[in-house]
Amino acid sequence: MTNNNSNQKQDNLLNIAKNVLPGGTLGNPAPKNLVIDKGLGSHIWDIAGNEYIDYLLGSGPMLLGHSNPEIVEAVKSQVEKGSTFFALNENAILLADEIVKAVPCADQVRFVSSGTEATFFALRAVRAFRKRDKILKFEGGYHGMHDYANMSLAPKKLIDLPKGLPDSPGIPESVIDEVLVAPFNDLEFTTQLIEKHHDGLAGVIVEPLQRVIQPIDGFLQGLRDITKHYDIPLIFDEIVTGFRLAYGGGQEYYGITPDLATYGKVIAGGHPLAAIAGKEYIMNHFNPNVVSPENAIMQVGTLSGNPVAAAAGLASLEILKEPNFYKDLFNKGERLQKALEDTFNELKPETPVKVPGEPPCFDLYFCDSEIINYRSTFNADKIKLLKFNSLLLERGIFKGDSKYYISSTLTENDIAQTINAFHEAVELLDK
Ligand SMILES: Cc1ncc(COP(=O)(O)O)c(C=O)c1O
Repeated sequence: MTNNNSNQKQDNLLNIAKNVLPGGTLGNPAPKNLVIDKGLGSHIWDIAGNEYIDYLLGSGPMLLGHSNPEIVEAVKSQVEKGSTFFALNENAILLADEIVKAVPCADQVRFVSSGTEATFFALRAVRAFRKRDKILKFEGGYHGMHDYANMSLAPKKLIDLPKGLPDSPGIPESVIDEVLVAPFNDLEFTTQLIEKHHDGLAGVIVEPLQRVIQPIDGFLQGLRDITKHYDIPLIFDEIVTGFRLAYGGGQEYYGITPDLATYGKVIAGGHPLAAIAGKEYIMNHFNPNVVSPENAIMQVGTLSGNPVAAAAGLASLEILKEPNFYKDLFNKGERLQKALEDTFNELKPETPVKVPGEPPCFDLYFCDSEIINYRSTFNADKIKLLKFNSLLLERGIFKGDSKYYISSTLTENDIAQTINAFHEAVELLDK
């Protein structure tokens, strides 16, 4: 795989991008200075013709690889019938029905267009249900880009919790008081916090797998028990884990059922659609015919449940139901996750590394502390990671700043090439 082609068209586009897009980017941490032209299966190509094995997967949606023929066909046949109607349509109804069948907590589904919207409206729903304002989230937990989600997502300094830090300018001061922040996997801290603030809390939101950090034994169960005890809704943000860790997502995989969950990425096969799914007693707040008008939340979106994205989602879910889908996916991920760690242990035993995560989604940290929450990743060597990622990119391995997302379309050849690239990059890392 050669990755040193450049060409005039790509350079011209990058120049235009520098002028018309802030920072010359779409705002995401994807590899810079290349423009993606196309994707097929586990591979993508830039405009200059360089080919990459894709571990970014569009930040996760492309679990089934790019241009999957069944998804393309489903999308094409819907586009020919019309793209959006702002009205009930068959695909949206059937996709909601499939989510309800798959997801333990889901009695009903409300569609939106992005994960950010899904978590924002999940929080609004639990506020309407509880008639309280405060939210508890976990330091380092990612729930999109709205004001409440951007409290202590990636704080640049560590302050005494439960006070959170806004991740961005433009977040009103008042939001700081509405969000309590706890360390992931610290059940004692979280329990005490809930005991102290239960009367003001609207809900608790957590990624069951926080980025790539696994919940330690008993953490999610303890969180479920204490929230249930005080009747505080527990929201699982399953935008990454949904239909990726298992067909029923993180709640099936870890065996804990929340009250509400948010979905995106995989359920729309690469199209803009996301969802809030949950127990009827909370979902009723989206229904003015059930709760009184003053208790019904306002939530409308131009593209919510649009039939093209829903067609892609339905076609994706059909494939995920094939026997052995998750067994094969986990097998591929496990081999790469292990190979990454083994390569460092064999070639650079003096370099401390950790490779936390679950096989469909894991990452590398240059640190020697056990990774249980945001603070244990805080002092990891990020410069070294950037260098390692850029050595991989030169060797045809495309990934973001964080996470390896594994696609079901990875071939034996892809796996062998990736392991070979790990070896070369590890050898060159300190040179
Ligand atoms: C766990 C989680 N929640 C929410 C979001 C936000 O989704 P979106 O980027 O579609 O707004 C993301 C996006 O990566 C995510 O990983």
